[in-house]
Amino acid sequence: MAKVAFSLLLFTSLLLCIHSSDSSSNPSQNPDPNPNLNSAYDELKSKGFPIGLLPTNVLNYSLNRTSGDFSVNLDDVCRITLPPDNYLAAYSRRVTGKLVEGKISELDGIQVRAFFKWWSITGIRMSGENLVFEVGMVTAKYPSNNFDDSLECEGRHSSS
Ligand SMILES: *[C@@H]1O[C@H](CO)[C@@H](O)[C@H](O)[C@H]1NC(C)=O
Ligand SMILES: *[C@@H]1O[C@H](CO)[C@@H](O)[C@H](O)[C@H]1NC(C)=O
Repeated sequence: MAKVAFSLLLFTSLLLCIHSSDSSSNPSQNPDPNPNLNSAYDELKSKGFPIGLLPTNVLNYSLNRTSGDFSVNLDDVCRITLPPDNYLAAYSRRVTGKLVEGKISELDGIQVRAFFKWWSITGIRMSGENLVFEVGMVTAKYPSNNFDDSLECEGRHSSS
């Protein structure tokens, strides 16, 4: 009996899979019919960016796939130390901007500490294997593989 139920379940999920890939106009290999179930990290990856641009405490996000406008909500403000030069970065609870292939513009909500001041990162783009951070007219370039891991916010390690 359990075996029959299991087969039925398997059959139903197969049907669901076939159905969702049929009804999807999206050629993506991901059979998930709801694109909102993708994570903000997946969205970054799909546009060629490493996931380490966001800390681990993302709550939710929204992305307009037409315009690229996005908004990422963190569960709290967050500070992480960015490799490889150990700049302190501060994330607001809400980070917004425009995400397209290899380019994040109109960025708001991420600041870095340098020369005794906080500077807003206004854009980030991919250039070959490098990430180029834009702070107004100034840019800084780092190998993208420094950002392969998403970091936990500092000062939260002992949270119960
Ligand atoms: C994210 O979660 C917060 C708190 O639950 C909620 O108020 C907000 O509407 C959510 N935003 C999105 C884009 O889902
Ligand atoms: C997404 O962006 C397009 C182009 O800017 C705009 O026309 C559309 O209203 C936006 N959709 C949502 C849900 O905001």
